[in-house]
Amino acid sequence: MTNNKALLAWVEDMASLCQPESVYWCNGSEDEFNAMADLLIRKGAFIKLNPAKRPDSYFCTSDPSDVARVEDRTYICSLKKEDAGPTNNWEEPALMKETLKGLFSGCMKGRTMYVIPYSMGPLGSKISHIGIELTDSPYVVVNMNLMTRMGKKVLDILGDGDFVKGLHSVGVPLETTQADVPWPCNKTKYIVHFPEERSIMSFGSGYGGNALLGKKCFALRIASAMARDEGWMAEHMLIVGITNPEGHKRYIAAAFPSACGKTNLAMLTPTIPGWKVETVGDDIAWMKFGKDGRLYAINPEAGFFGVAPGTSMKTNPNALLSATKKSIFTNVALTEDYDVWWEGLTEDKPAKLIDWLRKEWTPKTGRVAAHPNSRFTAPAYQCPVIDPKWEDPEGVPIDAILFGGRRASVIPLVAEARDWQHGTYMGATISSEMTAAAVGGLGQLRHDPFAMLPFCGYHMGDYFQHWLNIGKNADASKLPKIYSVNWFRKDENGKFIWPGFGDNIRVLKWIFERLEGSGDAHDSAFGIVPAKDAIDLKGLSLSRDDMKKLFEVDLNKAIAEVGDIREYFKKFGDRLPVEMTKELDAYEERLRSL
Ligand code: GTP
Ligand code: SPV
Ligand code: MN
Repeated sequence: MTNNKALLAWVEDMASLCQPESVYWCNGSEDEFNAMADLLIRKGAFIKLNPAKRPDSYFCTSDPSDVARVEDRTYICSLKKEDAGPTNNWEEPALMKETLKGLFSGCMKGRTMYVIPYSMGPLGSKISHIGIELTDSPYVVVNMNLMTRMGKKVLDILGDGDFVKGLHSVGVPLETTQADVPWPCNKTKYIVHFPEERSIMSFGSGYGGNALLGKKCFALRIASAMARDEGWMAEHMLIVGITNPEGHKRYIAAAFPSACGKTNLAMLTPTIPGWKVETVGDDIAWMKFGKDGRLYAINPEAGFFGVAPGTSMKTNPNALLSATKKSIFTNVALTEDYDVWWEGLTEDKPAKLIDWLRKEWTPKTGRVAAHPNSRFTAPAYQCPVIDPKWEDPEGVPIDAILFGGRRASVIPLVAEARDWQHGTYMGATISSEMTAAAVGGLGQLRHDPFAMLPFCGYHMGDYFQHWLNIGKNADASKLPKIYSVNWFRKDENGKFIWPGFGDNIRVLKWIFERLEGSGDAHDSAFGIVPAKDAIDLKGLSLSRDDMKKLFEVDLNKAIAEVGDIREYFKKFGDRLPVEMTKELDAYEERLRSL
């Protein structure tokens, strides 16, 4: 298995704390995946889908109280409070450990503790990092099998090396007479990070980012702290390759908040003939400078944990085609012939379903059949447009970085930043309407700098500074250009103006042309925007008037927003880089002179 002394000692310590009935070291094999899925079927959590329609795939429902990330229960327990900053929950690490010790003590009684060795990033790549997750959830094991490189091969590479520790429990010990439930979870939840120690402790939830510790906990919160210390970047970004009709290829990374379109942009089906889009990653990017001075990105994950509702053969066929086999569907609805359904999958609603609450459902039931944060888990290699370089240990060179959010007004369809500093300001001032990916606040507009608000493992002001430093230390001519995009502007009737999805290629095409030095543009208060007719609208029925609306500046709203940003920036005190205030002042001045 392993001779790693630190690992063996830690597993032993955690087992004596949590007191599981047994300890099982995951090997990552096909047999193990199947055995774990069978166990979940016996527990009543999984239903096997129709093998003729979707081989090796499972329908799963969670407890109705455990359906999304819990941001108010998520902590960054840095040694000093000021290092967690104003956007994170904090508690004294020693105190927090006392609390957690109480909760974890005996928490795995009657259950198996699974040891999951996993690599974030291609096996053996210099950019990759290894983590070990200890969990009492077989659901976590099967998901980690699809989402990461996991099992024995990781232990072989680890040798005596260091790893990120992650302890996870659903928090429901089984006393001898007590029957298990299909989805055990605890009302008390703690998702806790110790950034200096590079360790994670997660209690009480079995769902998504709360429980699959390689994803948000490690690859974003812990990794962002590592990246700050070591001069690289861990970002909530998709990575996509775009080839123009002449065969020239460029890679773009994009940060949008949770459930705001990363998976869709990462695998978009272009509506302009001759253009090709290929997927490197759909949620997380780790970026480092190469010897040539350019920024290179890898996708640390090996699978997708994608939003189901709204995903269809029209909006995102490549996502659906990634999940035609060996996939897990959590909190969607089950059809009569044992396949899956969710709102938006088909125009017609099925006559009868079992919904995500395992209740009979018909179109007359009057509630959604799939939970708004229902998700599919699918291996990335099954994506029909996976990029040939998606596992390249060197990563792919990034030519442009996009920032976006869900904004009904103010933010234009697209704008280019004047330089890296202006682009950093664009990232720092992202706001977005909250989605079902986190518990609470649905639809409310909130600041979500760099789409990292729930994922930055340290002081957000220092994170802004880190972005500025990256720019200052680089050769400006080799840095990616930065853009702000917004697919979600609404008209006076509350309808999206921009068609979105595959038609987003029209915006990518303009960006591509800007990178090539063509692409007509002019200055505006917000940034550099496309000249009239510079965005290719061929074959699209979008009126000139609507196109104008996508760039319209509502001066009152924009000035009010400046005031709001000024107020928000105060949060960061003296850790707010002066460059951010300078950019805000300049924007206000441009607005006031309109
Ligand atoms: P996380 O996995 O939570 O980080 O989310 P994500 O950013 O990958 O979001 P995803 O691409 O899964 O999109 C979430 C929702 O936004 C889905 O319901 C999509 O159908 C919808 N969506 C994505 N792109 C567009 C678009 O261009 N226009 C509109 N109107 N909706 C979109
Ligand atoms: C997100 O919320 O941004 C996700 C889903 O990607 S989860 O893994 O649950 O955090
Ligand atoms: Mn995400």
